[in-house]
Amino acid sequence: MNKILSIVAIALLVSIFGFQPTPKAEDPKVLIDLGKKGAEVPASLYGVFFEEINHAGEGGLYAEMIRNRAFEDKEVPTGYSVVNGELVPPAVKNHLSGRIEKNTFKWEKETIPAWTINSKGEGASIQTTKTQPLDPSTPNNLLVKINSASTPAIVTNTGFWGIATQNGAEYLLRFYTRSDNYNGAITARIVGSDNTIIASQNVTSTANGKWKEHKLILVANASQSKAHFELVFEKSGNVYIDYVSLFPKNTYKGRENGLRNDVATFLSDLKPAFIRWPGGCIVEGITVSNRVEWKKTLGDPMKRSGVYDTWGYRNSYGFGYNEFLQYCEDIGAKGMFVCNVGLGCQYRMGDACSDQDVDFYVKDVLDALEYAIGGTNTVWGAKRAKAGHPAPYPLQYVEIGNEQWGALYNKRFDIFYKAIKSKYPQLTLISNHGLGKGVKSVTKTDMIDPHWYVGPDFFFKNHNLFDNIPREDYKIYVGEYACNQRVGGGNMLAALSEAAFISGMERNSDLVKMASYAPLFANKNNREWPVNLIWIDNDKVVGRSSYYVQQLFASNRPSYNVSTQLQQPKLDKPIPLKGEGGIGLGSWITQNEYKDLKITTADGNVITPDMSVGNGWIIPKGDWKNTSSGILSQSSLESMAAAYLKGKSFNNFELEVKARKTGGDEGFFVMFGMNETQQTGYAFNIGGWGNTQTTLQIIEEGVTSEAVAPFVKQEIKNNQWYTIKVIVKESVAQLYVDGQLIINYLPTPAPRQFVISGYDEKNNELIIKFTNASSEPYRAQLKIDNAKQVESKGVAITLAANSLKDENSFEEPLKIAPKQSSFDGFSNDFSYTFAANSFTVLRVKVRM
Ligand code: AHR
Repeated sequence: MNKILSIVAIALLVSIFGFQPTPKAEDPKVLIDLGKKGAEVPASLYGVFFEEINHAGEGGLYAEMIRNRAFEDKEVPTGYSVVNGELVPPAVKNHLSGRIEKNTFKWEKETIPAWTINSKGEGASIQTTKTQPLDPSTPNNLLVKINSASTPAIVTNTGFWGIATQNGAEYLLRFYTRSDNYNGAITARIVGSDNTIIASQNVTSTANGKWKEHKLILVANASQSKAHFELVFEKSGNVYIDYVSLFPKNTYKGRENGLRNDVATFLSDLKPAFIRWPGGCIVEGITVSNRVEWKKTLGDPMKRSGVYDTWGYRNSYGFGYNEFLQYCEDIGAKGMFVCNVGLGCQYRMGDACSDQDVDFYVKDVLDALEYAIGGTNTVWGAKRAKAGHPAPYPLQYVEIGNEQWGALYNKRFDIFYKAIKSKYPQLTLISNHGLGKGVKSVTKTDMIDPHWYVGPDFFFKNHNLFDNIPREDYKIYVGEYACNQRVGGGNMLAALSEAAFISGMERNSDLVKMASYAPLFANKNNREWPVNLIWIDNDKVVGRSSYYVQQLFASNRPSYNVSTQLQQPKLDKPIPLKGEGGIGLGSWITQNEYKDLKITTADGNVITPDMSVGNGWIIPKGDWKNTSSGILSQSSLESMAAAYLKGKSFNNFELEVKARKTGGDEGFFVMFGMNETQQTGYAFNIGGWGNTQTTLQIIEEGVTSEAVAPFVKQEIKNNQWYTIKVIVKESVAQLYVDGQLIINYLPTPAPRQFVISGYDEKNNELIIKFTNASSEPYRAQLKIDNAKQVESKGVAITLAANSLKDENSFEEPLKIAPKQSSFDGFSNDFSYTFAANSFTVLRVKVRM
């Protein structure tokens, strides 16, 4: 009780008076040495990753207010079909497994998304048609049939889950009509959720069978958040309508076909050094044929085909290549273009274009670069000039492919790297390789791009991951990372685990030159991905606590790091291992064989399971056969091939098995502690990460996820039998390979405090960034060495939450937001109490 009272008292004193107690000998120490310079922190470090996922652009950053404006949202991609409400791609050969891949994907459910008709009487109807298209690239239009009994017929668009208006603001409406028999007025209006008319204007339709463009300005007489758009027909007749587009006049920087002011401003407040576009998986497409095609994103938005994209809805291509480049320029960010290398998404269908067709994709990226930075005397540079921008755009980076791996990718990477580098040596080229040895298979890359979507423990444990990565002749761009497991919609625990990980990136920014959180946006009405940085509704933008962590790092970037050590009591209390459950064998894009499986239970019972495929094994994935008696063989190159012993659960046991790799990229998996549905548990991953590392991983949703044990270097040779032994007890899991102890995993609580500091040469300031991911305030003694003078007055910027489970929301958007206060207690040796559940930036002027 006394302890609680004193914690509360300290917290009160800190928050009211900025008071900090005098240092105590037992306090943890932060030792900062300004004389020991660390890595320089490049301006490129903090950027953003944009992808059309979760309606990030459509109904997000892109200011268009009409959803399904061109009636193309249900256009089935060429070669695809819709069966039982699911999208079915063509059967294609997966270039990794060699198999003909069959799969289904999400298909839009609404009949004519966002559009409905209502009328007084019977008989008015709407239907999409392909009759006399307005433009060949957008074949669909909407036929409105009205008979005299049904007038007025009202065709409604709900917008992107509502249309938001501002009293007095102007909205630019553009739409097309065509009719053979409707002569008369059509009213275009914005109507409030209370049915009041917010803005209204008439246009006239002439029955001459020709498309007619209407352009109007609607001025809102009220501010409403959930209004909708209507076209009202007072007469009978058949009217075709197409490309109904409504934009606020006040877009970001007033750009035509521009961005939502609130969203674009909120994003630019992150001060991103670069923007990546167009993704993400959408670069690759479900199959190559439905990849994003940047050339189709140029020019008049009415003529842009759009694409039904990987994430289950149509991308209108409204926020296209030119809009992306323009936005980069507008906010002083560099552009990063991600190109397709003739490969479809390897997590989906894994198809590949033929070797002969690779030139097409090489030319395509060279054209894209010419468009962005080529002279106006070049074909594509001239198109940029014609679009109103003769000067080059600030494009600096090209990522060659997205999340691709394997021999074919490596071969293609070399071709693309050479072609791009020889024409544009000034650009930085990035490969998709992770931290393993895979990158050794390409001739040269400037940067690699590892991705992490993990739980908080991974980031806490790996706060020092980059301290130990050997420096090679390439740098690292952490292109996608987020704590998105077991953290609700993205709580403070997630944000603080990211802060710990980012601290490690910043400390190692001689190696990690760039990083971008992913995904960036989620529209609250249509979220595909569990946790995203920024929430959007049609009239609001909310930053999660992770947003503010990103912002605090980017706006408190020092010129260089200085040596900073946290000395704190060791946390060594063991915590129990959840090792009880089923066991299994498996692999990741590797073929292998297993035999002589033996399990010894705690009471000395020895079980030698039957290795025949049949009743004894559950096989969720992989091609498992008995090639000879007693040998269980897996011959596919799938990720996460797995076979689990049926109906058996073990606790405190020893498992031994012989394993041999016969092909593929990695080594073996041995799973244990699996739940009944084989969704959660553990896997020893032996020779993972391109056959370079062994560790223990958590399994979530049936797939290996974060590593919980340290990584140990290991390579598994082909066609060699290894003896693998796994021992699982109350609070330890051990792995032996050929008698040698490789992993000795004792689950222990990881530290929850992390600190880095650096010097800002421009402002002569020491910047200290401290993460306290524990639910108690944390008092530390901070000692600053090799500073002639430390001013006593500086600032403290604190991002804190009442609980690690707290999240920002539309109701409480600033529940967790940075608060700046002055702090008058800095010196060479001072105490500071970091708030519970907090990330704190301290800035103070120092003379050296
Ligand atoms: O960020 C979401 C997705 O995660 C990206 O599209 C892809 O690159 C990764 O798998």
